[in-house]
Amino acid sequence: MVPLILLTLEAWQFRSTPQRALEGVGGRAAFGQAEAFLFLIGVNFWNFFGAGVFGFIINLPIVNYYEHGTYLTVNHGHAALMGVYGNLAIAAVLFCSRYLIAPQAWDARLLRRIFWSLNLGLMLMVAIDLFPVGIAQLNDVLAHGLWHARSQAFVQGDLFQTLTWARIIGGALFVLGGVLPLAWFMATRAYSLKKIESVGLQRIEGKPVQAPY
Ligand code: HEM
Repeated sequence: MVPLILLTLEAWQFRSTPQRALEGVGGRAAFGQAEAFLFLIGVNFWNFFGAGVFGFIINLPIVNYYEHGTYLTVNHGHAALMGVYGNLAIAAVLFCSRYLIAPQAWDARLLRRIFWSLNLGLMLMVAIDLFPVGIAQLNDVLAHGLWHARSQAFVQGDLFQTLTWARIIGGALFVLGGVLPLAWFMATRAYSLKKIESVGLQRIEGKPVQAPY
């Protein structure tokens, strides 16, 4: 975790390099990868919280012996897998797309909204359902054994069912505010790609070559 935090601080410094170098000529706007960077911050957060904190609390043998096969694993799995590798994959896609998509078709505001919807949606799923249900299931394992905590009686019980349905709040935000708009953005930007010959032509004609984004 410590190296990761140091890397984040280093990346944060790096982020303001164009601003410092181009003071007065573009400044902040000169850093063209702000949206990809935002998703990388998401990676850092979930790496710490989803993988680190949630992974560590189920890692100790004395805990793992009882929690294995409960929703605490599901909780860690969601937070670590989507949080870290989901955000990382989107950051990589946006990083590359920024060079391919025409600047006027880039929608930074929409991408920021998508980021918050995906990550708040994931956080709500974790906070409303996966973590509390995991703790309740662990308590049931301790009181009645794993067979009971995984039985239909427990899974169909009021608490489990209510929280599973409540998870739809986070899920809806995740899908409607994040997944679908992102899919729409990527699909529609296929019609707004930069022309390949433009940079070559600029070079041939001796004109100054445009910034890559
Ligand atoms: C980005 C990093 C990580 C990812 C993507 C990840 C993902 C997952 C997933 C998907 C599972 C569920 C596997 C299954 O159900 O069979 C799992 C299980 C587990 N993870 Fe992680 N994990 C990460 C990091 C960590 C870390 C750092 C720790 C410990 C500090 C950890 C501890 C565990 C443990 C103990 C289990 C087994 C839980 C059980 O007994 O059911 N993970 N992980």
